[in-house]
Amino acid sequence: MEEITSRQSPIPNLRTAVIGVGSLGQHHARNYAEIAHAGNSEFLGVCDSNEENARTIAGKNNCDYFTDWRELLDKVTAVSIVTPTETHCEIACAFLEKGVNVLVEKPIARTLAEADLIIEAAETSGAKLMVGHLERFNPAMVALRPQVTKPLYFEIHRVSPFPNRSLDVDVVLDVMIHDLDAIQWLVDSKVSEIRAVGIPVISDKVDAANARIEFENGAVANITASRIGTEKIRKTRFYQTNSYVVLDYATKFASVTSLAPNAIHPLLGININRLEINDVEPLRAEIEAFLDSISQDKTPPITAHDGRRALDLALGVLEKIDEHAKKVFPK
Ligand SMILES: NC(=O)c1ccc[n+]([C@@H]2O[C@H](COP(=O)([O-])OP(=O)(O)OC[C@H]3O[C@@H](n4cnc5c(N)ncnc54)[C@H](O)[C@@H]3O)[C@@H](O)[C@H]2O)c1
Repeated sequence: MEEITSRQSPIPNLRTAVIGVGSLGQHHARNYAEIAHAGNSEFLGVCDSNEENARTIAGKNNCDYFTDWRELLDKVTAVSIVTPTETHCEIACAFLEKGVNVLVEKPIARTLAEADLIIEAAETSGAKLMVGHLERFNPAMVALRPQVTKPLYFEIHRVSPFPNRSLDVDVVLDVMIHDLDAIQWLVDSKVSEIRAVGIPVISDKVDAANARIEFENGAVANITASRIGTEKIRKTRFYQTNSYVVLDYATKFASVTSLAPNAIHPLLGININRLEINDVEPLRAEIEAFLDSISQDKTPPITAHDGRRALDLALGVLEKIDEHAKKVFPK
């Protein structure tokens, strides 16, 4: 472990660190370092149980490194937890119990019981707790959100080539959960029915899945998530009264197609409105929103209850996949 050097923060006591600097955590570290460089906080360092990872990422960001997160418990006021999902509960609870503000990556935890422990720890200490449902900060989603009225029917595809990471969880908890969060956020009604099918193809967990989610207000979402594709697709299409919406997270594109006002014939009056986006890095926007919620003492934009709700639906999808598999492949 290197010695901690003292850097002054203009926001008193806002000292940050990142726990877990693998494929995503290294980008958290870069963003915290840049934010600190701009003078808005003090970036203390990174922690990774893999010492080489910790040392490399610390070197890139000119900060200290640690291999045991417990060493940071009394040294920081805000952390990102970007370790494998199975470790979120233990690490998040320990920091929250110390009053440290936590941005925990999605999914919030493996189980609802673990999510509840994390929520309880935050409520007891009063520390801020935010969950990293990053797609809400995608510039295309940011541009689109004010245009959303009452979506009725979604077609969603999230496909990627087989990754070398996050294989501790299936494709539903790994990536479909982004869309499960997004539809609940956009529809704002309770889920009334789940149907799902899924299959392990390369790993021993579900690698490809399709879910049909129905809401009490009648909205329906059909979501396909696969991590055994040949290309990267992150597309959502949906219909709402008088408009058709396209959202492409990968290319940061959003459009709303509707009938132009006063059109004398529908084919003549179709108006495709490509939304203007503010092309900021989604992770930068997410971390800045987390730090703002601390410095301005306000509720983080993605709460632990949002994270729990997305997890609950993801687990519901997995349960239906399991039921379906038992019917199709009876023992
Ligand atoms: N929001 C998103 O879009 C998004 C994208 C990718 C991953 N994630 C989430 O981020 C988390 C990490 O995913 P990843 O793909 O970066 O995984 P990864 O395996 O690439 O990195 C995890 C890192 O954590 C370290 N680690 C493991 N246990 C640790 C411990 N107890 N203490 C300290 N370090 C520890 C590992 O050595 C590794 O370097 C997961 O929860 C995943 O679901 C979110």
